Amino acid sequence: MVAPPAWNRPSDPFAELISADAIAARVTELGARITAEYAPLTASTEVVVIGVLKGSVIFLADLVRHIAAPVLLDFISISSYGNATVSSGVVQITQDLSRSIEGKHVIVVEDIVDTGHTVHYLLENLATRRPASIKLVALLHKPERAEREVHIDFLGFTIPNKFVVGYGLDVAQQYRNLPFIGFVQGS
Ligand code: IMP
Ligand code: MG
Repeated sequence: MVAPPAWNRPSDPFAELISADAIAARVTELGARITAEYAPLTASTEVVVIGVLKGSVIFLADLVRHIAAPVLLDFISISSYGNATVSSGVVQITQDLSRSIEGKHVIVVEDIVDTGHTVHYLLENLATRRPASIKLVALLHKPERAEREVHIDFLGFTIPNKFVVGYGLDVAQQYRNLPFIGFVQGS
């Protein structure tokens, strides 16, 4: 058990699933793998890292500082759950990219692939915009919950079927700023 920081709802107990140190080590590794994949390409083509708001923001901010190749950043906002913790399967773009991705190499950064509906929809949508390539980075994957087959090119951690928060992930918009990944007791 880890007490949440005093500035973040100290009354709620969390079990720590992935420590801040373990996250940092894995993010460094993912950055190195992504660098190896893209560094040779970037002389001729732009690479755009697309963060899926809001859950990927903290992961993306850390990850891009470990990618030693020129990248552009853009963001897309998708709603699939509202405040519910169970996927409705209904996915909607609520805020689109700021620029075209046509002819560019796209790296989509997602916090978690749960049922797979969100990423499945997003990758299909982005593919219609004719990018040079699309790859998916996900910090977390809950394979027990899969309803759609999704290929994750760069994965941080496989986790059990728990509702997790922290390091960008929320429950009802809370706890995104916890420095570790934990789950609310009883979930
Ligand atoms: P999917 O469409 O079921 O794969 O859900 C993907 C989205 O649901 C993620 O991008 C998250 O925003 C959210 N989500 C799924 N599982 C969790 C969780 O355990 N904690 C916080 N958010 C989650
Ligand atoms: Mg998300």
